[in-house]
Amino acid sequence: MSAHFDLLIRNAQVIDGTGAPRFSADIGVRADRIERVGDLSGASGSTEIDLGGRVASPGFIDVHTHDDRLLLSDRSMAPKVSQGVTTVVAGNCGISLAPLPVPFSQGVTPPLNLLDDAGDWFRFRDFAAYVQALEAAPAATNCALLVGHTTLRLATMARTDRPAEPAEITAMRALVDESLTAGAIGVSTGLFYEPAISAPAEEVIEICRPLSWHRGIYCTHMRCEGDRIADSLEETFRVGRELDVPVVISHHKIIGRANYGRSAETLAIIERAMSRQTVCLDCYPYAAGSTILSADRAATSERVLVTWSRGMPQHAGRELATIASELGVSQEEAIARLLPAGAIYFRMHEDDVKRILAFEPTMIGSDGLPHDDAPHPRLWGTFPRVLGHYARGLGLFSLERAIHKMTALSARNFGLVDRGVIAEGAYADLALFDPDRVDAGSTYEQPLERALGIDTVVVNGTIVWREGRAASNYPGRVLRRMS
Ligand code: ZN
Ligand code: CU
Repeated sequence: MSAHFDLLIRNAQVIDGTGAPRFSADIGVRADRIERVGDLSGASGSTEIDLGGRVASPGFIDVHTHDDRLLLSDRSMAPKVSQGVTTVVAGNCGISLAPLPVPFSQGVTPPLNLLDDAGDWFRFRDFAAYVQALEAAPAATNCALLVGHTTLRLATMARTDRPAEPAEITAMRALVDESLTAGAIGVSTGLFYEPAISAPAEEVIEICRPLSWHRGIYCTHMRCEGDRIADSLEETFRVGRELDVPVVISHHKIIGRANYGRSAETLAIIERAMSRQTVCLDCYPYAAGSTILSADRAATSERVLVTWSRGMPQHAGRELATIASELGVSQEEAIARLLPAGAIYFRMHEDDVKRILAFEPTMIGSDGLPHDDAPHPRLWGTFPRVLGHYARGLGLFSLERAIHKMTALSARNFGLVDRGVIAEGAYADLALFDPDRVDAGSTYEQPLERALGIDTVVVNGTIVWREGRAASNYPGRVLRRMS
């Protein structure tokens, strides 16, 4: 009797996520799992896709996102599934949508406005309510969730420009415990940003205590990615050691002209730390960053592009220097008129980006900001750019290595079981693409262009993206961490 599958993918070059060389096979999917990988020429499928020798890989895991609200407000997750992403880790940089029981009367305090300060966004009294909302109306992708230290500070502290007091620490620790029980996989911090910058390492350690018994993960946008980056690495390792949990250095980068080239030093420090404790890191494949607009960040950048502005919305997508000269004012005055606003900052060196990307343990995370009017191109282009520009174009690593950095490595580090590999029994999260064409379509000038060469994307056995369009299916799940 010949086998019948729900979905049968024929004539694939399988890159299985482990880093192993590609091989030719067919893939048979039943319900939400990969049932067979091999020669299935005698089998049939309710849906059949003939890849004609193009690539099937595990769906990509975007380990660094700010998709907390997008998962609910635009469930198609088009910026992500269009790239082949099937799982997103949300709640990064200390900023999570939940738990935030207090409504802010005057809009949203930065940096929470990275999740959109339009005023119509979702609020949840506790983390369980957020998880329930995601499970009641699932998105096209899976998600794994972090609870943000900055959010906890805003939810519990009357004044946030100082270290938390003992009662506040107790309250935040209880919220961390509750969030992890409700399904969060860990805690994130954004010590680089106000108001978290006022939190000493001791505050972070004390509120993160529940990570130790929940076996959670600690992800951090470090206090400094410039002159004092070595101190920040040590602070990060210390948190991991005191709690005995894995740490993730988010979007590792080297900021500022005076520091260009120092990735050689930081990667050596990270490698040494890895011999003593679990340290992970991710990065995005661009030499410009993006966050809220500020005068000090602009002053240390070679070029600044405005991504959104409440003060003068018409300038989204334009160069700060041009805006200032048109207005006949200084850059500082132009910024004052644009605020609140977001920006792209060119203040990294391409050699550091390449060295960090090529470092074996580095995972890929987009850090995309889905609510910006003219977003950084990383939102729509991160994963195809790694495959097209850095692997195929520059030969920085093989396609197999590139895929590993965005699949099996990420699943292992984040404790996402049976994800990130093409293997019999694993979940059927798949990206089907043309290895000769795959690349980012988005650029700094055209940030919303779709990725090239992505054919079909499958989440839990269900097609979510096919031939350039969303399939209006929402099979995503909230993933728990298994360690
Ligand atoms: Zn960040
Ligand atoms: Cu981020």
